[in-house]
Amino acid sequence: ALSGAPDRPLAGRRALVTAGPTAEPVDPVRVLTNRSSGKQGFAIAGALAALGADVTLVAGPVAEPTPAGVRRVDVETAREMLAACEAALPADIAVCVAAVADWRPAEVASGKTKKVAGAPPPEIRLVENPDILATLSRGADRPTLVIGFAAETETVEDHARAKLARKGCDWIVANDVSRPGVMGGTENTVSIVTGEGIERWEEAPKAEVARRLASRIAAALSGGAP
Ligand code: CTP
Ligand code: CA
Repeated sequence: ALSGAPDRPLAGRRALVTAGPTAEPVDPVRVLTNRSSGKQGFAIAGALAALGADVTLVAGPVAEPTPAGVRRVDVETAREMLAACEAALPADIAVCVAAVADWRPAEVASGKTKKVAGAPPPEIRLVENPDILATLSRGADRPTLVIGFAAETETVEDHARAKLARKGCDWIVANDVSRPGVMGGTENTVSIVTGEGIERWEEAPKAEVARRLASRIAAALSGGAP
């Protein structure tokens, strides 16, 4: 039954988590990618599973171990990530933590691009990738609670509010990556921006941020409206 045992309040709920970067091929040996260790997203997937959720973790290329009890699908590109997310629907919860490459090369060279003496460097033309968070938020099969992340270096909360509206999600977890040690590190300072307002959380290890977020999700789902 839903919300059965008090220690497993997400039992019977399905969750989808994206994590890590995407890698967009330029040619067979080169990619365009983002900096992302995957640590926060992997911790969230593990924390949701620990509360009893049935979790699919769609992961870009990272060096993190799969959390216990989580179904992991490895992908490389944004388009593969979107397809894997759509294949994991329906879900009650979607948490998009991935650092998705905003653009990909318009053409992928079929062979390795070689240096040619005296020739100028190649130019890479980019096209926009699909927005996975916005697609999930506005899809026919929309999860009940859709959560995005926003890693910002300035006016963190203003950007988060704008993103909440633009993406059509329920919450944005805003993350100040200008703080030393956040990128690739173990600590995180986040604010949760919802339609109701903003909750500022103390700096905490990423695993603790993940547990708090999973509990907050469980409370929102058991209380009815997110
Ligand atoms: N996101 C996504 N698909 C994309 C781009 C972003 O799912 N193609 C998600 C991220 O996983 C994150 C949220 O959207 O949850 C915000 O990502 P961010 O890069 O901060 O937002 P953008 O809309 O791409 O804006 P910008 O990079 O210009 O700040
Ligand atoms: Ca982006």
